[in-house]
Amino acid sequence: MQSKKSHKDYHYKYVSDAPIKVDTKKYGASLQWKFDYSFLLGSLAQFIHSEIIVEVGVSAGETTSRICQLNPSAHLYGYDIWDTNGHLSQFHHYSSKTKVEEYLKEMGVNNYTLHQIDTIKNRKEFEKKLANDLGGEVSYLNYPKHKTKKSIPNSSCKKIDFAFVDAEHSYIGIKNDFEVVYPHMADHGIIAFHDTLMIDGCREFVYDLRNKYFDGTFDIVDLPFGIGARRCGVTLLVKRSFGRTDRAIDQLCGSILSPSEIENNETKWLNGEIKKYRQNSFNYNKEINISDLDKTVDFDGDGHTKEDYIAVIRKMRNTKRKRGEEW
Ligand SMILES: C[S@@+](CC[C@H](N)C(=O)[O-])C[C@H]1O[C@@H](n2cnc3c(N)ncnc32)[C@H](O)[C@@H]1O
Repeated sequence: MQSKKSHKDYHYKYVSDAPIKVDTKKYGASLQWKFDYSFLLGSLAQFIHSEIIVEVGVSAGETTSRICQLNPSAHLYGYDIWDTNGHLSQFHHYSSKTKVEEYLKEMGVNNYTLHQIDTIKNRKEFEKKLANDLGGEVSYLNYPKHKTKKSIPNSSCKKIDFAFVDAEHSYIGIKNDFEVVYPHMADHGIIAFHDTLMIDGCREFVYDLRNKYFDGTFDIVDLPFGIGARRCGVTLLVKRSFGRTDRAIDQLCGSILSPSEIENNETKWLNGEIKKYRQNSFNYNKEINISDLDKTVDFDGDGHTKEDYIAVIRKMRNTKRKRGEEW
């Protein structure tokens, strides 16, 4: 007779037995060093009992495979352009939907759906696809006073538990993907952003989440780490869920206030925060144009522009990629 599996066995199986060897020639030389944050993200999604996961920026499918392996009962919806991308098109066409599907098959993963889409240029289509994946639709509300149009998910849309935003890394790119994903987040949801430490647009945007876009419903935690040549950094947006949870206090170890007073305080505080920052939520969906991006950065004190800088990075990456090194 088979013994009943405990939570521990389950965790062990998916964390330790998951295949880790990758044919880097076939799937891309950069895969190996990505294992660091893929475990972190997959475990986090598992910890919050995720059922619906969204990844914007799939690339070769490394994080996708790890997150799916660690969350076998969840479904991941992944979106990528799989084409030349980036502000000033500095990134090359890399991998493809078919290659990722082959890779995921090899990794024993099938709890996913992938879409090829430019999430910025085809934002409306992205909004519709995502809502459709979640089983519903979006409608648009105009706020002329705030020069804002907001997309609102209808009640049939299932909520996203965990989202990983890791696509176009300009301010416009990360803001765009955040704006589309955010309205769908569950009350306990988490959004992880990658490359927030060493890339200007991402770092500026996660800073702005604390002020310009702060709506009182989440906390931001920066993790300025990463394994590999660069400490790329991960930032977590964690919804303030204690005041919204269906779980009551069920063990008394001694507190100043009674359990219901604690729970009521949390809810009252959260409602107050939402009221305080309501105006900020109108900053979502407010358009920022490419021309608003700072092009004048003198990155080496020699009068070089951002375009020069990107050309240098592109050349360096090409050389490294040809040598099969990390890039
Ligand atoms: C840093 S990689 C993602 C890495 C992946 N999440 C991982 O950690 O293994 C960024 C991906 O975003 C995609 N991307 C860039 N701009 C995009 C856009 N406008 N729409 C959709 N995907 C885009 C790129 O094609 C690239 O595959």
